Amino acid sequence: MATPLFHADLTVHTQSHDYPIVIIEETATENAAIDNKTMASQITPYIVGQQVLIVTNETVAPLYLKALKEPLEEQFTVRVCVLPDGEQYKNQTSINQIYDALMAAHFNRDVTLIALGGGVVGDMTGFAAASFMRGVNFIQIPTTLLSQVDSSVGGKTGINHPQGKNMIGAFWQPQMVLADMSTLKTLPARELSAGLAEVIKYALIMDVDFLTWLEHNLPAMMALDLAVLGEAVKRCCEYKAHIVAQDERESGVRALLNFGHTFGHVIETHEGYGNWLHGEAVAAGMVQAAELSQRIGWLTCDEVARVKRVLALANLPITPPPIEVKTALGLMGHDKKVKQGQIRLILLKSLGKAVITSDFDTQLLTEVLSKHHLQGTEASIF
Ligand code: NAD
Ligand code: GLY
Repeated sequence: MATPLFHADLTVHTQSHDYPIVIIEETATENAAIDNKTMASQITPYIVGQQVLIVTNETVAPLYLKALKEPLEEQFTVRVCVLPDGEQYKNQTSINQIYDALMAAHFNRDVTLIALGGGVVGDMTGFAAASFMRGVNFIQIPTTLLSQVDSSVGGKTGINHPQGKNMIGAFWQPQMVLADMSTLKTLPARELSAGLAEVIKYALIMDVDFLTWLEHNLPAMMALDLAVLGEAVKRCCEYKAHIVAQDERESGVRALLNFGHTFGHVIETHEGYGNWLHGEAVAAGMVQAAELSQRIGWLTCDEVARVKRVLALANLPITPPPIEVKTALGLMGHDKKVKQGQIRLILLKSLGKAVITSDFDTQLLTEVLSKHHLQGTEASIF
């Protein structure tokens, strides 16, 4: 087995249990993730019982399934569920496919589900684990940057409803998270950039020094310097673990992680799931949230320009698609953060400091939305 080039261990503290995030970059050789047994050896201690169901999709399976499955088969009864790839399949039909695989294998409460893939696979596997026989163990092996820095940590699981994103789900924490940086070698550049949006989000809401770090290191990250990417993933997981430990079920501070998301979900839902990637919609949404913060008087024009520059450096969109203001406001009205009919948004008091607030003039929000002439029809909830 090759010597790890990068290794970090963190712990997430939650009410149900504490669990580790292990971040590795095993080797620099091209087929490392396919040839070595590292993924399996890292997760084995967290599998209780003999039954394992690996859930993955048709894109990730040919890349990493064999490396994970074969070593596990030496110790466990392993079954596989390969789902179709795409946000449009993040639905009840796919969840039923997971239940069908569990039932066909006669697995019981001792089973451990393993999510091998991006946020879509991770969210669905977690939800299946939360609901099968009223709750079984699961492990996250995130293979996209977005899932490594965000979705695999913190226990939000679920599926979409035709009328709204992530409408059906549960809080259900994994037994461990294993992020192998080597898997990013096969990730399309557009998906890497989408993950960078969530990385930049942490800097904007929590740590302006990290923003400066990113301004220097984004080119290396985009050139797939896995050690630099590993460092960024570690920092993001630390931020997220810190927030989740304080507010596992999003009754307060966790909502800050939704910076840019209220605007972004309008874009995602309006444009149709999968057309704008989640991270791309969040990027354009963060620009809108920064513009509103500037109109309120909290950010300067230069600071908004800095937000746009860092997002553009990561090859992310900084302008939303055209959607009518009335439609956008309607979609925002379905947001989970709405309280007593008032839209609440995550805005920036300064770079590196976010707040949740409904204390803004709706006219200013309308100005931000109309700047890009928003038009459209559907509803979105998250
Ligand atoms: P994704 O899961 O759709 O993955 C993106 C694409 O990359 C897919 O085509 C996938 O098959 C492919 N892929 C995955 N790993 C690969 C690899 N190593 N090499 C090549 N291709 C690979 O998208 P995502 O960006 O990972 O996740 C987005 C989802 O995560 C959304 O559904 C969003 O709602 C959810 N999300 C959840 C949370 C949470 O807290 N649970 C947080 C943020 C986002
Ligand atoms: N991605 C937002 C959260 O986990 O709360």
